[in-house]
Amino acid sequence: MFDAQTIKSFKSQKTPFYYYDLGLLRRTLDEIKNHGLSKGYHVHFAIKANFNLPILEEVRKAGLGIDCVSGNEIKRAVEAGFTGDQLAFAGVGKTDEEIQVGLDHDIFSFNCESLQELEILNGLAQKSGKTANVSIRLNPNVEAKTHRYITTGLNENKFGITADRLPKLFDMLPGLKNISLTGIHFHIGSQITDLQPFTDLCNRVNEMQDLFEENGVRLDHINVGGGYGIDYEKVDENPIPDFKSFFEVFDRNLELREGQQVHFELGRSIVGQCGSLISKVLYIKEGATTNFAVVDAGMTELIRPALYQANHRVDVLTSDKPHKTYDVVGPICETSDTFQKGIQLPEIERGDLVAIRSAGAYGEVMSSAYNLRDRVKAVYSK
Ligand code: LLP
Repeated sequence: MFDAQTIKSFKSQKTPFYYYDLGLLRRTLDEIKNHGLSKGYHVHFAIKANFNLPILEEVRKAGLGIDCVSGNEIKRAVEAGFTGDQLAFAGVGKTDEEIQVGLDHDIFSFNCESLQELEILNGLAQKSGKTANVSIRLNPNVEAKTHRYITTGLNENKFGITADRLPKLFDMLPGLKNISLTGIHFHIGSQITDLQPFTDLCNRVNEMQDLFEENGVRLDHINVGGGYGIDYEKVDENPIPDFKSFFEVFDRNLELREGQQVHFELGRSIVGQCGSLISKVLYIKEGATTNFAVVDAGMTELIRPALYQANHRVDVLTSDKPHKTYDVVGPICETSDTFQKGIQLPEIERGDLVAIRSAGAYGEVMSSAYNLRDRVKAVYSK
């Protein structure tokens, strides 16, 4: 967990705040370097998981690129020192202005999600006198075995184009003079801890490659997206996902052509374990059926429990008394503003600090101003 010195430093900070362990981030990135980059794989960090500059600095130093889903994310990546050739841009609803931002930075790849978007991109590229590099996002209809809100690769999901649209794509391609179709892109969902869906994905990628080649399209790169999950239970024992096994699935199952590059877009598995939301206990209230520990962080700072019933472990940092049962709840006027229900924690009192763990990905970035709350702050380890 946290050492005494770190907990002491927390006491002088205004709560709530996100604490990021940059040492753990560096160790995680080392694993990606050892098991992924060293084999020639390209890894883009999904900046949507966390867009803070000190995090991006570590990611850049490790040699990763960035996966963006908005014009502002492209701008943030550039601000963090990434160059256009390190950026991919996905998203079902890119505006003309956002596409223009991508064109202005000559990005590595527009991951296009519909045939209409291809036409719009072609027109804008023509106006700018450019050729846009495109990966077409395909919906592989693969079951990711994760929460239904974060499953993206099924036919019923809005992402990518389905296989039945491909003949139309092949017809259109010769007319799209300002587009260079360089790759295919997939992303099947998030928080996937079972490796089988990634094997299924590889099989679909192989079939798709054959289909593209039959239609005269040679692909320079395959982007298999992100989605690798973290262990929200074994936060301290097992903080870094097993990247060796993850990348081996692709070594074993992808049928690559000569010179072809493979790209990944990992978000959560890089940064999730590195962040905790540190919060102070405001009140202890004995309810009719449980004790409520009301803390000063809420769903406005971390919406994942309310939105996906996500289980973020709560650790008490400043008490080692015998355990009692608590519901740990936030101050927001919603019943779903609950971090944990009926858990055993050391007895706590007003002023104690708690850490809500594994909150580095899709935590701070999804925070809101509901109830006119202050924007949550970030604190970093060395
Ligand atoms: N690539 C694309 C096209 C994506 O849509 C995503 C995530 C990623 C890569 C990165 O996925 P990751 O490796 O982080 O699983 N807010 C949700 C997660 C939403 C993920 C959206 N797309 C959560 O808190 O669980």
